[in-house]
Amino acid sequence: MNTEEPNNLKVHHRERFQKMRTPFYCYDMELLRDTIKEISRLTEGHPYKVHYALKANANPTILQEIARLGLCADLVSGGELKAALDAGFEPDSMAFSGVGKADWEIRLGLEHGIGCFNVESVPELENINLIAGKMGVTARIAIRVNPDIDAHTHRYVTTGTAQNKFGIGKEMLPDVVALAHDLPHVCLRGLHFHIGSQITQMQPFVMLCETINELQTHFEGLGVHFETINVGGGLGIDYSNPDTHLMPDFEQYFGVFSQHLELRPGQELHFELGRSVVAQCGSLITRVLYVKENRDKKFVILDAGMTDLIRPALYEAHHLIQNITSQATDSDTYDVVGPVCESSDVFARNCQLPITQRGDVIALRSVGAYGESMASSYNLRQLPGSLFLP
Ligand code: LLP
Repeated sequence: MNTEEPNNLKVHHRERFQKMRTPFYCYDMELLRDTIKEISRLTEGHPYKVHYALKANANPTILQEIARLGLCADLVSGGELKAALDAGFEPDSMAFSGVGKADWEIRLGLEHGIGCFNVESVPELENINLIAGKMGVTARIAIRVNPDIDAHTHRYVTTGTAQNKFGIGKEMLPDVVALAHDLPHVCLRGLHFHIGSQITQMQPFVMLCETINELQTHFEGLGVHFETINVGGGLGIDYSNPDTHLMPDFEQYFGVFSQHLELRPGQELHFELGRSVVAQCGSLITRVLYVKENRDKKFVILDAGMTDLIRPALYEAHHLIQNITSQATDSDTYDVVGPVCESSDVFARNCQLPITQRGDVIALRSVGAYGESMASSYNLRQLPGSLFLP
């Protein structure tokens, strides 16, 4: 039986949850602030810039808090660019990634003078140069390198191997750097990397540092110096024990880069963290609609489904499930499922919960990242609401 106490749901809020329309995302804003303060504390005094990857969670209240606390923005669409501007992020320090930037998105970025386009291919580089030329501006860019490092994470969130669509292969890099220098309307600032997501071992990051060191030495031999190195995001969190690890070990993470990456004088190191900033501050609060018994199985049917939280269906992800209203001392084994007409709409199989009944309130934990931002209205379902605990 899962006895972990849902600390950060602040017990006195549970009665309130029972009266609210479910499902909704509940955000612990104090934890969000503490997490960002920890990042700031550890990066202070270093030439580091931490961007927040908006794709993890673009709820306006969350964005405003992150912008207020001084992180920069990392974007992958024109929609995210607009949301970042609305939330008060500085355009000058925004980074814009993605393999398929549309012309209007590039124009929007240039109109606002964003800090850097992370360029993922030669045709994109040429297109940015063309659009910037027509607008009479210079686009600041970094080249996204595919370092061919396996981050040993789920195959859908591994991005840095040669099999992925992302970035430019190391072998092509010298030609692309030379091209960027030749193009009149782009200014090459640096190199960009991102090897994957939910990375909990430090070894892939160490390998990334070593790859970057080699590349820098190689380019210095050619007389090329980069102002910025961007190592992307990817730091994982503890989905099994959220209350004992409310934050990942940021000290160890930043320590890897200060120890292994040979930054050159004057060079800035950029990070693009998403999950590690917001995941633990969010819970999905949902109600039990029915408890259904088949011959050899019991199902807890929730009013939240894969439309509210798609990670279990899409990546076989596990989120801790807690019955936060049951007073029962006995437990039982259930499959916890949603109401959507898809067999993959399952949050957990054979899950131990206190005896659960219709009307109980359930919390799905560690869903602040890639939860609300990936919600859909499939089956014409309503999008989940949100609640912010100060
Ligand atoms: N920078 C780039 C270029 C990225 O593609 C990503 C994430 C990040 C930064 C932020 O990575 P993070 O620190 O959050 O790991 N929906 C999936 C995760 C997809 C991540 C995509 N790229 C999930 O729910 O696990």
